[in-house]
Amino acid sequence: MGLFAKQKAEQQALSVPQHIAIIMDGNGRWAQKRGLPRTAGHAAGCETFRRISNYCREIGVKYFTVYAFSTENWKRSQEEVSAIMNLMEQYLREAIRDMQKNRVKICFFGDLSRLSPELRALAEDAVNQSHDFEIQANICLNYGGRDEIVRAARVFAQECADGKRKPEELTEELFSQNLYSAGVPDPDLIIRPSGEVRISNFLLWQSAYAEYYFTDVLWPDFDEAELLRAIESYHGRSRRFGGVKK
Ligand code: FPP
Repeated sequence: MGLFAKQKAEQQALSVPQHIAIIMDGNGRWAQKRGLPRTAGHAAGCETFRRISNYCREIGVKYFTVYAFSTENWKRSQEEVSAIMNLMEQYLREAIRDMQKNRVKICFFGDLSRLSPELRALAEDAVNQSHDFEIQANICLNYGGRDEIVRAARVFAQECADGKRKPEELTEELFSQNLYSAGVPDPDLIIRPSGEVRISNFLLWQSAYAEYYFTDVLWPDFDEAELLRAIESYHGRSRRFGGVKK
């Protein structure tokens, strides 16, 4: 059996998590190992994103969320930040071009106001042209989990100040509606490649009951087989959501 057929058979034997989220880490080290500039690592990481997001769609993952650029990533060199933003622009142009073929709803988690007007316009086009599709890709761009929570708290505080709400009305469900992820089920599985074992401000609220999968593979080397290993590992665990194992 060929590798792809084998992967297909394995994938059919597993039911896939509804929502997979990935911290795309290790691009810089991948490039460094090859004597290439960090920007080459991001270009390779972007290719991996294309491949893995297509694969997720193929195997029936309904929600796919990636950490593309954090609120802290602005501290990187101007050259590196521009390279990542250019890759994002290029990706969005393609996504808009292939929209009817791929049928993926594109959403952004993060504050897009700091992006260039061109990139913001592309992001808005991608969102507007895809909102009827069922499979959803969430791109975390200028995103931070704490920032997201503070913004949601501010919205509620303002509603209280305006007399529209009372503090005691606040519930987890109501609070969730003010997060970027409103309406999106929490991630079942969060994957972090590259050997780092940290959350790094990613989906802090939404990850309350997520299973984590850590691997040493650097993001540009991450492939379909590695994704299936992560799903397999997820299935090997029993999720109890704070309850008792049956
Ligand atoms: C982390 O690796 C990666 C990033 C900060 C950028 C990720 C961006 C892309 C893959 C391209 C654009 C994405 C989309 C969705 C089109 P790192 O640079 O921190 O790696 P290191 O820890 O090895 O230095």
